[in-house]
Amino acid sequence: MKHTKVKDLLISTTTLQEVNAKGWVRTFRNNQFIALNDGSTINNIQCVVDFENTAEETLKRITTGAAVSVIGTLVESKGAGQKYEIQVQKLEILGDSDAEKFPMQPKKHSLEFLRENAHLRVRTNAFGAIMRVRSVLSFAVHKYFQEKGFVYVNTPIITGSDAEGAGEMFKVTALPFDNTPRTEDGKVNYKEDFFGKETNLTVSGQLEGETFAMALGQIYTFGPTFRAENSNTSRHLAEFWMIEPEVAFNDLDDNMDLAEDFIQYVIKYALDNCVDDLKFLEGRLLEEEKSKPQADRSEMPLLEKLNFVLENNFKRVSYTEAIDILRESTPNKKKKFNYIINEWGADLQSEHERYLVEKHFKCPVILFDYPANIKAFYMRLNEDGKTVRAMDILFPGIGEIVGGSEREERYDVLIEKMKALEIDEEELSWYLDTRRFGSATHAGFGLGFERLVLFVTGMTNIRDVIPFPRTPGNAEF
Ligand code: 4AD
Ligand code: MG
Repeated sequence: MKHTKVKDLLISTTTLQEVNAKGWVRTFRNNQFIALNDGSTINNIQCVVDFENTAEETLKRITTGAAVSVIGTLVESKGAGQKYEIQVQKLEILGDSDAEKFPMQPKKHSLEFLRENAHLRVRTNAFGAIMRVRSVLSFAVHKYFQEKGFVYVNTPIITGSDAEGAGEMFKVTALPFDNTPRTEDGKVNYKEDFFGKETNLTVSGQLEGETFAMALGQIYTFGPTFRAENSNTSRHLAEFWMIEPEVAFNDLDDNMDLAEDFIQYVIKYALDNCVDDLKFLEGRLLEEEKSKPQADRSEMPLLEKLNFVLENNFKRVSYTEAIDILRESTPNKKKKFNYIINEWGADLQSEHERYLVEKHFKCPVILFDYPANIKAFYMRLNEDGKTVRAMDILFPGIGEIVGGSEREERYDVLIEKMKALEIDEEELSWYLDTRRFGSATHAGFGLGFERLVLFVTGMTNIRDVIPFPRTPGNAEF
């Protein structure tokens, strides 16, 4: 007999003579009531076991974590909390679970403990919800761009260029660590390596993406990205997923419009398609907030916060205006910031970004026109000669969620910049070809997918929104 998903059973419009459900036991009460979950929904289906006619041996094996198959009648439930339940006629234990040893006991576990059990934490309500929301969001990303006619491009994961300057890179090598081949001056001889040159895991697909945008018009990437920076924060992963659209003939304003529209679309899609999961996560968050001091509590419940982002335009502010605001701010004057803002040109730390978003503007903010020397080489230089057409989108509780820019399309200006930064022209000659042959205005951005999932689920640590997080000192599983 084919089994039916719990999700579909729960939305049934009639009682059903014979149904089969398969899943994992969450709890077993009074030797009679199984709360069965199969991952299709946050909700369990109640399965009522006929304990008088079930062998004692079998009843003992209905333990938290066990995999079971039940066949029975879908009837209207007499108990509160569910419309339908299954009156079990036939129960089969598919896989036993040692109740004493099963780490996911039906009680509240700390997030740290759950991280150490990332292979089992997905069997909890919270992680089931987070991972379903993550899946729906990633579908929404593709749906948005595909509906707009963007071409999905798979840029390489192993890359020969290290000029993006986005962060430290992980080396990819097949050379031995003992007797590593060396050149005459003692350096590692990458000519003898697998690719005949030094290679790394990519920190961004942008440069390759640009070459495709300059042929296909509108493209996006969505893939894994690697950064070996030693930042052990709740916002950084060594392996994360990034979405990078790149559009020919777009300028910075178009880029901001696209980013804002895109983010609002995917959040709306999650709201429309993950109601149960988001409601659960909202409740979880409210519980958690109760244990925090008043000042640290978020001002809005999760669903209200998500709707707020949909209903309000992102505030667009230049870097220069932002510096003025920060310089005059109370935490700056009272020296509460770890990094005091004195001068125009200072790089913004996450404490400053969060002040702007959470305390000053109280809405998502797009900062643009940053000083050239704190941004990447490929960003278009403004007429003032000192700022570039960069944009960062800052979100409450998250800080930077998007980084992007209009690109420097002028060959001469780009070469000047690369010379000043001692970036190897030879190495990037393929990139420079886009400026040699039919160059045009273009722009793009990168959205950190996990930071988006953090925002939508209301979680606070990025390790909790990716299945198996990779961070400094941790590559378990
Ligand atoms: O600002 P970033 O470094 O921009 C780029 O890589 C550009 N090439 C994007 C482009 O213009 N096509 O990274 C983009 C976003 C950040 O805003 C942040 O959301 C996320 O990627 N991000 C990280 N997320 C998790 N862990 C990390 N270590 C991250 N580093 C960046
Ligand atoms: Mg950035």
